[in-house]
Amino acid sequence: MSDRTQLHIDGQLVRVKAGSSVAAALRIAGGMGAARTSVTGQPRAPFCGMGVCQECRVQIDGRRRLACQTVCAEGMRVETTA
Ligand code: FES
Repeated sequence: MSDRTQLHIDGQLVRVKAGSSVAAALRIAGGMGAARTSVTGQPRAPFCGMGVCQECRVQIDGRRRLACQTVCAEGMRVETTA
């Protein structure tokens, strides 16, 4: 069993340590780790890390989820949302 998990973030293949959160994977993927874009066009990234602020909302395998509350799974497809 590998100690790494592979997933796709906006089509980019990302490898993370097994057990990492999707919020961590967003950061590892590069940039500022933005999860979505605000209504005024500003990038939003995970802030609280404990499921309260909702700034980490993303689409995971077609469902809206909180990146900070979701553990990466092999083959997972994450889309940052508008
Ligand atoms: S970072 Fe605040 S809810 Fe996920």
